[in-house]
Amino acid sequence: MRKIITLSEYIIDRQADFPYASGDLSRLLSDIGIAAKIVNKQVNKAGLGDILGAHGTENIQGETQQKLDVIADEVFINSFKNGGQVCGIASEENDGYLAFEKDLCKKGKYVVLFDPLDGSSNIDVNVSIGTIFSIYRRTSSIGDLANVNDFLQVGYEQAAAGYVVYGSSTMLVYSTGHGVNGFTLEPSIGEFCLSHPNMQIPEDGKIYSINEGNLAMCEEGVKSYIDYCKEVDKQSNRPYSARYIGSLVADFHRNLIKGGIYIYPATSSAPNGKLRLLYECNPLAFLAEQAGGVATDGKQRILDIKPTELHQRVPYYVGSKNMVEKAMEYLAEQEAVTK
Ligand code: AHG
Ligand code: MN
Ligand code: MN
Repeated sequence: MRKIITLSEYIIDRQADFPYASGDLSRLLSDIGIAAKIVNKQVNKAGLGDILGAHGTENIQGETQQKLDVIADEVFINSFKNGGQVCGIASEENDGYLAFEKDLCKKGKYVVLFDPLDGSSNIDVNVSIGTIFSIYRRTSSIGDLANVNDFLQVGYEQAAAGYVVYGSSTMLVYSTGHGVNGFTLEPSIGEFCLSHPNMQIPEDGKIYSINEGNLAMCEEGVKSYIDYCKEVDKQSNRPYSARYIGSLVADFHRNLIKGGIYIYPATSSAPNGKLRLLYECNPLAFLAEQAGGVATDGKQRILDIKPTELHQRVPYYVGSKNMVEKAMEYLAEQEAVTK
């Protein structure tokens, strides 16, 4: 048996990667691990009536029920508010950002942007869901309230990013810009244990993940790339397999391990795609690149996009390097034809 390395031990050990760091990021990552365990408990109980149900409806005790994504949002916000490392957050569940007013928080160096529960439409049917987080150093002065510019930073400035997948087992995967590592929750000891050190996404893969029901609404380049994925060509392992869970975290996680491409393109009904740059695309793009993969909106690197609004959406192509590059060839070809 290998020695078990828990998330907390690993975070402490890796502090040496940041010789001048104060340990604040390490403490923040540990807090995320604890919040993830609390959310995991709730997710495990999701089939039980008093958790499930529409937000705002009353349960049998007359208490107001909360949807799981609202519960997850509150768990993470409370954890950040009480930790002292974070001066503000922005979350998919809230219209605007929250600048924490406590003095302890105003001294925090970081902001966190997150999707508390990704794939929440899958909760009712017991399919994997997740949490995605993105951490930046604040640009405002320590001691001030956080302001909007702290949140509208370009993706390559992320100090750390990661996700939790609540699946057949629960995993936390994160990067601080020194590779990607995955930890699996061992329920009997309640600890995330290092199970996937130095994760690398294969350069080539055999899986394409897209909501093909939308294909008629996609641009021609996307359609012709999907045709390419389905072509029979033994030499290049085609046809590829179609796999689409409908929880970005779970689709991304599978492709990270097995190799593949995930696409949520622009469609005629959603011209900027569906996924949110700050809460979904940037953190997973950071991880993809750290693992040797590629993430683009079809025209430019996701991590180079300067956000203009908190809930901005972008088309998204992420995964194995050669697969994303091939998809880009198809998009560029189509663009050249239509010019
Ligand atoms: P969320 O549950 O946080 O709103 O995210 C849902 C997202 C993403 O997880 C998933 O990949 C995508 O929506 C699925 O969209 P379609 O149902 O349009 O395919
Ligand atoms: Mn989401
Ligand atoms: Mn969500």
